[in-house]
Amino acid sequence: MSGRTGSTSPTLTAGPRHGAGHVGGHLTGPAPAAGVGPPARPTPEDARARFFAPDPARVTADLSVRLGSLLLDSPVMPASGCFGPELEGLLPMDRLGAVVTKTVFSAQRGGNAAHRLSETGMGMINSVGIPSPGVPGFLRDVLPRYHATGRPVVVSVGGLRPEEYAEVAEELGDAEYAALEINVSCPNLEHGGTEIGADPEAVARITREVRHRAGGRPVWVKLAPMVASVTEVARAAHRAGAEALVVANSYPGMVVDPGTGRPVLGNTVGGVSGPAVKPLSLRLAWLVAQAVPVPVIGCGGVSTAQDALDYLRVGAAAVQVGTATFARPQAMAEIVRELDDRCAGAGVAKLPELVRPGGDHEDATTPTRHPGRSADDRPSRGNG
Ligand SMILES: Cc1cc2nc3c(=O)[nH]c(=O)nc-3n(C[C@H](O)[C@H](O)[C@H](O)COP(=O)(O)O)c2cc1C
Repeated sequence: MSGRTGSTSPTLTAGPRHGAGHVGGHLTGPAPAAGVGPPARPTPEDARARFFAPDPARVTADLSVRLGSLLLDSPVMPASGCFGPELEGLLPMDRLGAVVTKTVFSAQRGGNAAHRLSETGMGMINSVGIPSPGVPGFLRDVLPRYHATGRPVVVSVGGLRPEEYAEVAEELGDAEYAALEINVSCPNLEHGGTEIGADPEAVARITREVRHRAGGRPVWVKLAPMVASVTEVARAAHRAGAEALVVANSYPGMVVDPGTGRPVLGNTVGGVSGPAVKPLSLRLAWLVAQAVPVPVIGCGGVSTAQDALDYLRVGAAAVQVGTATFARPQAMAEIVRELDDRCAGAGVAKLPELVRPGGDHEDATTPTRHPGRSADDRPSRGNG
């Protein structure tokens, strides 16, 4: 990938998978008659037809995971802001454990100035600015389209002041959703724009207030990665009643145009995501899984089944997929299929048996205490 774009829609560029047990692959068109011009290019319809073709080797293992009070069919779901129901034609939705909405704010708001996205080495950077239709627009125009996917819907909730999160939950009222995911990677305008997710007290307060308005439905907290102590914030969220923790959001960064020397993003800085951040978020997921007795959902650089397994093996119960979907809209389905294939290859019927490295995991659907040195989230530890 190279270049940049001001668009935020996942681009539809990837080839389909072909047949059982095959991940990725490339498009092949009908064979041309000998000596008659170049090979015919496949149409997008060819690709879709093959990807959705009836497949006797559909998921056969039990990939279900329990996240607190929710039992999901699959451990794979999209990361907020990196998915839309419009992917329906390219991604078999029934492979997903849930669908997660883009973060919704109480009031309607626009996004940041273009450019909003740029590719980076092994990933991308974005500063979309979380445009939002506001809760009324979300309930009218967006939520029904998520329900049409047939998957449990997780609504990502944002705010620019701690009390705004509770307002969103209040305004959602008894609208149908499976869980709320609190996105604390938002600037706190009450405190000069410092990130809400860096303040354990603010995270606890928001979690309590949102829970209070969620009518008994689960509340997850999606942690910010660049904080003094991720475990302290995780414990604060857990004490305030979070049923699961998503680890983590994108990392602050910037890119400069080599020609002009000026920042590429309209907002100067943005969030770095994709394969580049996987080792960083994997460590955070490992730390958090040891620190709190609630399920962890790993997020950051998951692009393959192996990435997903890596998160599960350090103690996550499920994963979210973000950046990978922009290049390969079918990435999540491929990951699920390969997890299933690997279960079959290993002769196991359930995902936890695949996750267990050497039999030291009782049950991957509860956070595991991964062997290794004790968790310590002081950032200098383990450095060169
Ligand atoms: C274009 C884009 C938009 C995003 N929008 C949101 C958002 O609205 N809310 C949120 O919590 N995270 C948002 N994220 C962060 C992702 O959900 C995810 O945490 C992050 O990209 C790391 O996962 P990945 O490496 O798989 O992309 C966004 C990421 C990207 C790339």
